[in-house]
Amino acid sequence: MGKKVHFSELGLVNTREMFSRAVDGGYAIPAYNFNNLEQIQAIVTACAETSSPVILQVSKGARDYANSTMLRYLALGAVEMAREKGANIPITLHLDHGDSLELCQSCVDSGFSSVMIDGSHLPYEENVKLTRQVVEYAHQYDVSVEGELGVLAGIEDEVQAEKSTYTRPDEVVDFVTKTGVDSLAISIGTSHGAYKFKVKPGEAPPSLRFDILSEVEKRLPRFPIVLHGASSVVQSYVELINKYGGKMEGAIGIPEDQLRQAAASAVCKINIDSDGRLAVTAKVREYLANNPGEFDPRKYLGAARKELVALIKHKNETVLGSAGKA
Ligand code: G3H
Ligand code: 13P
Ligand code: ZN
Repeated sequence: MGKKVHFSELGLVNTREMFSRAVDGGYAIPAYNFNNLEQIQAIVTACAETSSPVILQVSKGARDYANSTMLRYLALGAVEMAREKGANIPITLHLDHGDSLELCQSCVDSGFSSVMIDGSHLPYEENVKLTRQVVEYAHQYDVSVEGELGVLAGIEDEVQAEKSTYTRPDEVVDFVTKTGVDSLAISIGTSHGAYKFKVKPGEAPPSLRFDILSEVEKRLPRFPIVLHGASSVVQSYVELINKYGGKMEGAIGIPEDQLRQAAASAVCKINIDSDGRLAVTAKVREYLANNPGEFDPRKYLGAARKELVALIKHKNETVLGSAGKA
């Protein structure tokens, strides 16, 4: 670990003001995961061109894949690139699904402006304790902290059957008060990955539990709520992937109208990773199938990056409502 650097020296902002404006304005800030150069170029280009605030998210897996220092510099490059484009958009660098106090501390010390501590798998009191420790450290540096209550269903889980994994509205006030978190991720039926529900072909996925969201909102008025696992699993990408040699049967996500409804209420951060992965995979497969002699990565990754820009602009403009809110 090099010398400590504070996020304000890097042109980054924490989530305080962006969330408060999003809650009042009835939209959500997009939180896009990135692991490589093309993804971050696409995110910053699309957010600059739609004048949207943005949260750049780095997961533990992304740090392992790309090297944590490299990813941090990519994010800082993105901040500079946005400025050069003349886009004055607020940019947050956020740790996604932090799993320990040490990891969160290391991100705070290296210039992140927001961290998530995901204690959602722990017994309640342990989740409170760990989250509180992260808040105590991060708030010394004005870094925002996201906590989580309730467990998102995994790929193999039956969302409808796993009622106990939904966030319990009766716990949220106690959790927020005891921990001091700045935002709270909740479980209302979303799930991570490209296989969010098991439904028969042509059948609609079960609706998100808006009743739970509104109970949470009643107990925590104007408090920033976060939705993980919120990709729509864009079917045109799944079809392209399957057409060009892939095998993604039964991939299904959250309908856009439900995300829009969530964004209009207390949800002010929506996490999207899988849709970006699908866009990249679809376009790389299509490009290589149509250009079998091509071996310049700039060609097929360039095609993927272009699609990612279009996807992110669409999300900002039509789903999250963050376009024009910078
Ligand atoms: O919520 C998880 C994100 O999609 C990050 O996924 O851990 O494979 O990087 P990852
Ligand atoms: P998706 O897998 O639905 O894109 O969710 C991403 C996420 O929640 C990152 O934390
Ligand atoms: Zn997540």
